[in-house]
Amino acid sequence: MKFIGLITAGLLVSGTANAADAGLNLAQRSVCLACHQVDVKRVGPSFRDIALRYAGNEGAVEYVARSIRNGSRGLWGAIPMPAQRHVDPATAKELAEWIVSLAPSGGEPTDDTKQP
Ligand code: HEC
Repeated sequence: MKFIGLITAGLLVSGTANAADAGLNLAQRSVCLACHQVDVKRVGPSFRDIALRYAGNEGAVEYVARSIRNGSRGLWGAIPMPAQRHVDPATAKELAEWIVSLAPSGGEPTDDTKQP
């Protein structure tokens, strides 16, 4: 019985992972992961920290989508993000939706997060 429970848990976990994977794949294809990771700050802030800062704001997805295409500077640290013009507006919106969606289930903010 324990064994069957483990299998069920495994299936549930891989089920949710698949939905999240779509966003992660898109981020990978859009060459975001060179500078970003979901949970760890690298060159840029973690996507989870970005979600925690903007989720719940009105127009968060539109704002984030615009940030992706136009780049960003001075909001998170000394290193600016170059404009990501290879990302078309529809893809930027998809990425933004995924990033913003990382917040609610995200748990505690990390040390990098400065909540407004
Ligand atoms: C060359 C490195 C680099 C790449 C490539 C990159 N980013 Fe960034 N990104 C950064 C840095 C650095 C910041 C912090 C900029 C700042 O302080 O304002 C940032 C900030 C952001 C922000 C927050 C902007 C804001 O308004 O607060 C978002 C959203 C974001 N990146 C998404 C993406 C996505 C999606 C991609 C892929 C299409 C991507 N980034 C590719 C380095 C990068």
